[in-house]
Amino acid sequence: MRLLAIETSCDETSAAVVVDGCAVSTEVSSQIKIHAEYGGVVPELATREHLRNLSPVVRKALQQAQIEPADLNAIAATRGPGLPPALMVGWKAAQSMAYALDVPLIGVNHVQAHLYSPWFTGEPPVADWESFKPNLSLIVSGGHTLLVKVDAPLEHQILGGTQDDAAGECFDKIAKLLGLAYPGGPEVDRLACTGNPAAFEFARPMLNQPNDDFSFSGLKTSVRYFLEKHPELAADNTRLPDLCASAQAAIVEVLVKKTMRAAKRERVQCLTLSGGVASNSELRKQLQSSCERSGFTLRLASPYLCTDNAAMIGLLAEKQISDGRGFASLEMDFKPGWILGD
Ligand code: KG4
Ligand code: ZN
Repeated sequence: MRLLAIETSCDETSAAVVVDGCAVSTEVSSQIKIHAEYGGVVPELATREHLRNLSPVVRKALQQAQIEPADLNAIAATRGPGLPPALMVGWKAAQSMAYALDVPLIGVNHVQAHLYSPWFTGEPPVADWESFKPNLSLIVSGGHTLLVKVDAPLEHQILGGTQDDAAGECFDKIAKLLGLAYPGGPEVDRLACTGNPAAFEFARPMLNQPNDDFSFSGLKTSVRYFLEKHPELAADNTRLPDLCASAQAAIVEVLVKKTMRAAKRERVQCLTLSGGVASNSELRKQLQSSCERSGFTLRLASPYLCTDNAAMIGLLAEKQISDGRGFASLEMDFKPGWILGD
């Protein structure tokens, strides 16, 4: 199998070539610098950048893999969820290539690709389905916060999700309140390393509710009210590490406690963590130590696979092909609101 995968759901233009279960080449062109000046992703600019960058990124991925377009057996692309005009660029390019090369087109759900990324190991990443165990999975990205029960590869059901902001969105919005650069998650993580997580007490929304849902907008609001009440702290850069560590502690505590509770209730022995926020050092550390205390195995997505990339799209597409799923026709549209796939 020689497959080309394309990812353009948000602000990363990415292409990868997957050969027999290994993503032999992955190219990512990040737009972070372009959107930073606006404090968030601007869909119109993201679309223009995808249009500008997709062809060079695809060409580089093919060159690096030493594969000619005519050697490809399949094309895969993110079909959803994502920003509609951004998705459209990658999806239409993939449809055109599949038509021109007369090979199958595979539509991949972006959140599913995050979900299974902890099973893609090594550099370059290889799909490790042999070691798969039924698990409870926490997916935390800029757009999603989901707890998912996974019984087998491609057999999963959502247990809960966020009722408002996603965890990554919460990190980014709190960072903005603190005057930090976009995307704020990595900045909060970096500053929190030298701060005191117990310096300030912020809300832990829905922590004690007996369900698998989350809500992060109340936490962001509690940070905003706190800063309005204490303008001297907001203006004092030396307190930034304590503010970041305290806000991060609230997000991480809710994520870890609710995930552990669900895992025990569902009687699974394995947990997985993926998505952009899975890069967060404190979340990785705390979930790891909670799992060790409870005797659970934890599979963490490799940091380089946490942010958006086409390798995870291509590796999942190959699995879909072997299971006979996800084949798309040239008439099929992209699906911006497609939460976790069928
Ligand atoms: O998965 P991703 O690259 O894009 C989406 O599919 O949304 O996730 C991006 C999100 C952003 O909100 C970013 O701030 C957050 O992941 N993020 C982090 C860290 N690295 C990225 N949040 C907290 N700590 C980090 N180290
Ligand atoms: Zn993502």
